[in-house]
Amino acid sequence: MLILRYLSLLAVLNGAHVYGTNYEIKVTTSQEPFAGTDARVYVNLIGVNGASTGSIKLHNSMQDFERGRTDTFYRDASPVGHLKAIKVHRDNSGFGPNWKLARITVRFSGSPLYKFYFNKWIPAYRWTTANEENECRAGLALCQHLCIDTGSGYNCACRTGFKLEGRYKCTDVDECSTGEQKCHSQTTTCKNNLRGYTCPCKRGYQPGQSAYECQDMNECMAGNRKCEGKTTNCKNNFGSYSCECKDGFELGLSPYKCNDINECIAGNHKCEEKTTSCKNNFGSYTCKCKGGYEPEPSLYKCNAKRCNISIPLGMENGHISNQSITASSYYSRYPPWLARLKSGAEESWYALPSDPNPWIQVDLDKLTWLRGVATQGKRFSFFVKTYKLAYSLDGIHWSTYKKANGEKEMVFKGNTDPYKVAKVELDNPIFTRYVRLYPKTWRDGIALKMELYGCRPA
Ligand SMILES: *[C@@H]1O[C@H](CO)[C@@H](O)[C@H](O)[C@H]1NC(C)=O
Ligand SMILES: *[C@@H]1O[C@H](CO)[C@@H](O)[C@H](O)[C@H]1NC(C)=O
Repeated sequence: MLILRYLSLLAVLNGAHVYGTNYEIKVTTSQEPFAGTDARVYVNLIGVNGASTGSIKLHNSMQDFERGRTDTFYRDASPVGHLKAIKVHRDNSGFGPNWKLARITVRFSGSPLYKFYFNKWIPAYRWTTANEENECRAGLALCQHLCIDTGSGYNCACRTGFKLEGRYKCTDVDECSTGEQKCHSQTTTCKNNLRGYTCPCKRGYQPGQSAYECQDMNECMAGNRKCEGKTTNCKNNFGSYSCECKDGFELGLSPYKCNDINECIAGNHKCEEKTTSCKNNFGSYTCKCKGGYEPEPSLYKCNAKRCNISIPLGMENGHISNQSITASSYYSRYPPWLARLKSGAEESWYALPSDPNPWIQVDLDKLTWLRGVATQGKRFSFFVKTYKLAYSLDGIHWSTYKKANGEKEMVFKGNTDPYKVAKVELDNPIFTRYVRLYPKTWRDGIALKMELYGCRPA
C-alpha cells in the first residue's frame, strides 16, 4: 500500500506542473495478414483505484498500426496511479479499418512497465478491455513487502529478517530469541532490529573485522582506564583490565589505587639496624645513617664516619662525667671517677685486692673512634704494668682488642713508675661507645689514672 501511495504521489507531482502524467504508450499490432488498421484509435487507462484518464487519442497517420509493428506515443493525461487495465477503442474510418491488436505496454515516470495482452481483433465502436497481466505489477497485491505473481494470482513474501503473518503482513523475526543468530556470546550481545539483528560489543570489547565477534579492548593502551598512575600499573585482561599495585604499595579499598606500604613498620625493610634508621617514603623507604655513620655504596647500611684526628676525649678535662666512669670494685676513697689523668699524685681509682677480675669502664656517651690510651699510677709505688682493652657498642656485648693481623688479644705495656704518663696508640682504631681497661700485671696495687684519645664524628 505504501508503494502504491508513493507512486501516485509521484504521478501527482509529475503532473502538477504539466497537464498530468506523461504516458509512454507502445502499441504492437499483430503479425497476422491484414492485422494493420487505418482507423482512429483511442485508449483509456484505468488505475487500480478505479480512476481513469478518459479517452486518449493516439495518432492515426497512414503509417501507424501497420502489421507486426510497434508504434510509440507520448501522451499527457491525468494521473491514475497504478494501472490495472486499459481500454481500447477504434472507429471504422480508413481504407482497411479492421485491426488485430497484439499488446500494449505503458509506462510513466517512476512506474514499472505495465503489459496488456490482447491478441484479438478489436471491434469498431466498442471499448475492449485488457487487464494488466501481472497482479503484482498492477498493484492489486496487498503484500506488505514483496509480491510474487503466480500467473493466476499472487503470493506475498517478506524481506530477510521478517516472516509472513497471514497472507499479506510481514513481522520482524527476533533472531536473538529464536537463536538464529551468530553473535559471539563472550564478546557481543545480540540486538534485534527490523532488518535483522546486530552484535554490539560488550563492555571491554571493541569492533573487529567480523560483524559477529568483537575484539578485546586494551584499556591500558586506550587510556580509558581508572588506574591511578603513581601507585598502580594497568594490566589488560581479556575483556577487562585490572590495576596492579606497584612495588612498595598494597591493595586498599579502591580497585584503582593502592596504598603506600610503611616498610619500616611492616618490618620488610633491609636497613641495617646498627648503622641506619628506616624512614618510610611514598612507595619506598630509605635507610638514613645513624649518628656517627656516613653513607656507603650500599643503600641499606652505613659506614662509621672516619675521622683521623686523635684528641683527648675528656677524662682529664672532665668532659667525661663522673657517672660515665665505673669499675668492678674500688676502695671508697678511690672511686673510678678519680681516675682522671694528671689529677694529682695521690688521686686514682684503686681496685680491691680481692677482686678476681678487675676492670675500669668508660662510657663515651656516643660512638667514638678510639685511637689511643694513656695511663698513670699513684704515688709511692702503685701502677699497672700491663693491661688489655675491651670495647662494646651497647655495654653488654664485649670484644677484646686484638693484634693487628691475628687472633691474639693485645696486651698493652702500661706504666713503669707511679708518676710518668705512658701512652699507647691503637693500630686499628676502634669505633665504640664503651671502653674497658683490664689490668693484667701491676706493682703493689691496682691504682690507675687514665685518658682516652680519638675523635667523635660530627
Ligand atoms: C686527616 O684527613 C684529612 C682529609 O680527610 C687530611 O687533609 C689530613 O691531612 C689528615 N690528617 C692526618 C693527621 O692524617
Ligand atoms: C666528680 O665528683 C667530684 C666529687 O666527688 C667533683 O668534685 C667533681 O667536680 C666531679 N667531676 C665532674 C666532671 O662532674
